Amino acid sequence: MNLINKMLVAKAALLALWAVSAQAATNDDIAERIKPVGEVCVMGQECKGVEAVAAAAGGGARSADDVIAKHCNACHGAGVLGAPKIGDGAAWKARADAAGGIDGLLKHAISGINAMPPKGTCGDCSDDELKGAIEKMSGL
Ligand code: HEC
Repeated sequence: MNLINKMLVAKAALLALWAVSAQAATNDDIAERIKPVGEVCVMGQECKGVEAVAAAAGGGARSADDVIAKHCNACHGAGVLGAPKIGDGAAWKARADAAGGIDGLLKHAISGINAMPPKGTCGDCSDDELKGAIEKMSGL
């Protein structure tokens, strides 16, 4: 075999190797490349990925401290517009008595009352999250 032929054979061997390795990676790679970018979740069905997003966003329910810091503290921290101050147990107790307990306060917090906006501006807070925030602010 002369030198040219040797080179051609080497080239062919390389090509064959490349083809085999390209083939081997193909199916998984293609599946990965053509998988849908987003997934539609239907209510009532298990939806993969949503839990991961929720977890990345800080878990399911927000802590009372989170809700208060982000939403309630703006007014209840300093008592803006006559809002009962955080930790002012007497003021909260008087309101709880007037409203019919914590659940009454929760109702007012959800619907809003006078200058207090509905859900205290935490539009996506669950009732439990709001209640947790109220309990924490009032100490009740
Ligand atoms: C824009 C200011 C503002 C924000 C933000 C706010 N509040 Fe209030 N809140 C008020 C004011 C003002 C009152 C007093 C209303 C009144 O009785 O006139 C009040 C009263 C309340 C009461 C007592 C209701 C009653 O029956 O007396 C609760 C409970 C309450 N807020 C919960 C919350 C929670 C929980 C948050 C956060 C998720 C929050 N508030 C955020 C202004 C605010």
